[in-house]
Amino acid sequence: MRYLIGIDIGTSATKTVLFNEKCEVVASASQEYPLYQPQNGWAEQEPTDWANAVEATIKKIMIESGVAKEDVKGIGLSGQMHGLVMLDKDNAVIRPSIIWCDQRTGKECQEITTKVGAQRLIEITANPALTGFTASKILWVRNHEAENYRRCRHILLPKDYIRFCMTGEYATEVSDASGMQLLDVPNRCWSQEILDKLEIDADLLPKVYESPEVTGTITSEFAAKTGLAVGTVVVGGAGDNAAAAVGTGIVEDGRAFTTIGTSGVVFAHTSEPRIDPKGRVHTFCCAVPGCWHVMGVTQAAGLSLKWFRDNLAECYKEEAEKQGVDSYDLINQDVENVPIGSRRLLYLPYLMGERTPHLNPNCRGVFFGLSAIHTKADMLRAVMEGVSYSLSDCLDVLREMQVDVSEMMACGGGGKSKIWRQMLADMYGCEVKTIKAQEGPALGGAILAGVGAGIFNDVQSACRQFIAQETYCQPEPASKAYYEKGHALYKKLYVQLKDCYEELAQL
Ligand code: XUL
Repeated sequence: MRYLIGIDIGTSATKTVLFNEKCEVVASASQEYPLYQPQNGWAEQEPTDWANAVEATIKKIMIESGVAKEDVKGIGLSGQMHGLVMLDKDNAVIRPSIIWCDQRTGKECQEITTKVGAQRLIEITANPALTGFTASKILWVRNHEAENYRRCRHILLPKDYIRFCMTGEYATEVSDASGMQLLDVPNRCWSQEILDKLEIDADLLPKVYESPEVTGTITSEFAAKTGLAVGTVVVGGAGDNAAAAVGTGIVEDGRAFTTIGTSGVVFAHTSEPRIDPKGRVHTFCCAVPGCWHVMGVTQAAGLSLKWFRDNLAECYKEEAEKQGVDSYDLINQDVENVPIGSRRLLYLPYLMGERTPHLNPNCRGVFFGLSAIHTKADMLRAVMEGVSYSLSDCLDVLREMQVDVSEMMACGGGGKSKIWRQMLADMYGCEVKTIKAQEGPALGGAILAGVGAGIFNDVQSACRQFIAQETYCQPEPASKAYYEKGHALYKKLYVQLKDCYEELAQL
């Protein structure tokens, strides 16, 4: 039997999964690490934390599975997108990574728009200047930490830094590179025009591959640390969402998924580069060579629920520990007993600003309608409903662009919650399905590795063969009618608060 490894370098943890060549899980391990928020709206992580987690989890799955190292035929990386990793001439990490949800770069986004031109920027990078994307983070370091910028010799994305640790290669692939705002997305290569206008040296950037292509092999140093064989193939892999698409079979027109991880994403495959002229959703190259995807992003999806649990409902963690169960299962049980609409309580999930549809780094979270009758469970349900309204905003933009969304899957940690899936089905007004495999991005990485290693012919046929659908959630007409009214009010609140958010940011 031949084996493949998928590694997902997420925001809360790294998950490493060993699959056999039928894409069945043989062993899996994960390791968490901290997120640092040195200022309101900032978010950083230590690349060495990711590297340590990757080494530890590979070692663990190799020992636990007992699989011979020579039988591991390929490794596919996936991970959080957009984060900036800077290396100096000795390949040492210069500063902590400024990651995807960091919102400090409002001024740099204006700088990018002025230098490139708003329309030209969308034509080339398929997106307006966004605080989350890497280009504005690069300019921020240049504007605020000139010495760090001067020392920088290599710029890498989070999973591509790990690739460097594994193979010694400076490489990326089209899906993740799309989120840097330096890629010519329709033509799948770095844009010399953007680099010139922003005065960024092309030599700082890694080589761009397609996702299933081989980008390098495991070095003897990394092999010694992890128990892998020297020379094991490492393919391009994909950004977490593009990898999740492969792991859930969203590799053909008409297919879409909603993922609720730290962020939330509504993602649709498209075989043509479809661009929203208003820039409210992202158009990126996807992991299927020659194809793209359009996606809307809710910055704080699972993050909202985790934030509420950790700061205002710690009792769930304590009780879960006592009972030996998952705290989110206890939350789901309580939320199920709260009526739809959370007793007239609305939550806006803008804890980390918002991307789709507002593109506003300064908006912040709100509970609207609090009354003395409300309990923790009501508030938790309001959080889940607020996140779902935000995901509905994303789907509305895709529908307005006439992107074909005939089939919707749910995935990510939040997608495991039946009650959250029902909310999505009710708000979207369409069936929401799950797939059998829970490994999303890691499975996507492994399938890409299987293609690169020559075990599978191509991404689409492997997905058809190995991705099986499981549960189906139908919309309930009465709930749908209620949520339509709730969504209208939810949208109104942002409009009413827009100026107040700016005032708050200036305080
Ligand atoms: C996508 C995005 C997030 C991160 C973190 O644009 O910023 O989905 O990849 O998961």
